[in-house]
Amino acid sequence: TETDQKPQSPVLVEFDNGIAFVTLNRPEKRNAMNPALNIRMMEVLDELEADDRCGVLVLRGAGQSWSAGMDLKEYFRENDGKGRGAVLKSRRQSGGWWNRLMYFEKPTIAMVNGWCFGGAFTPLVACDLAVAADEATFGLSEINWGILPGGNVTRAVAEVMNHRDSLYYIMTGENFGGQKAREMGLVNESVPLADLETRVRSICASLLEKNPVVLKAAKDTFKRVRNMPFEQADDYIYAKLEQMLFLDKSNGRAEGLKQFLDDKSFRPGLGAYKR
Ligand code: ACO
Repeated sequence: TETDQKPQSPVLVEFDNGIAFVTLNRPEKRNAMNPALNIRMMEVLDELEADDRCGVLVLRGAGQSWSAGMDLKEYFRENDGKGRGAVLKSRRQSGGWWNRLMYFEKPTIAMVNGWCFGGAFTPLVACDLAVAADEATFGLSEINWGILPGGNVTRAVAEVMNHRDSLYYIMTGENFGGQKAREMGLVNESVPLADLETRVRSICASLLEKNPVVLKAAKDTFKRVRNMPFEQADDYIYAKLEQMLFLDKSNGRAEGLKQFLDDKSFRPGLGAYKR
């Protein structure tokens, strides 16, 4: 494991065998997202995009929290005091890295190790996959302190949860745990906290076997075609497929066909070709 950041940084990055563990690192503030963290996350995403040590990005939180949402003091009250310009700038900084994360160059997994509130739902949904600890506590707590879920939280929730569940939690602000999050489709899986990292690492291992050029195209295609009419989706998907033939210098498609049809060294129904 290599560490790439100073311990006091609001975001830590550690590399381990193709996985970049990105840790929201304000445990004393339950990893609430303040402007410094948001600015740093944008830089970290830029750095990791170009770093071959990152094959999969895992987003986790330091200590007992994943993220307690926006920093109510530094993101809201202090910016409010500085005027409209500061508020808008701060929104661009948070929204900026969440949008980057949504279409990040590498696969992304949210590893929800603890508290997950409000604004944290946007990066949670922006990650391609999410695995929670059973012990994690989620909440759309905005209503509890007198606002509605902004920062695209409402939209993010609507993307993965159904109408009734979304409104129930938006309107009541009630807490729920990892298993409930899984049941509602907010996360892929929920496992005991003690097994969380092991499970995330095993998903990473599976993703790292796959062709990275295709992974990026496949996830972006899924995220984009859902909001397209059928015919445009069909055309977009073929455009992406054909784009792969140019972008994939490893010629994975031909190699996959060869290993199955000629070498008979693997079965695509049962596993991936050898890269
Ligand atoms: N913004 C600013 N500071 C925060 C936040 C936050 N979102 N969350 C925690 N902190 C700070 C606390 O103010 C406290 O600071 P202090 O030590 O200087 O007094 C410190 O983190 C520890 O917080 P505690 O409340 O003492 O920790 P505890 O473990 O008892 O509770 C919990 C954790 C449940 C996460 C609680 O801190 C909490 O409810 N936080 C707010 C969660 C929330 O609703 N976030 C906003 C969502 S809405 C949005 O994001 C737009």
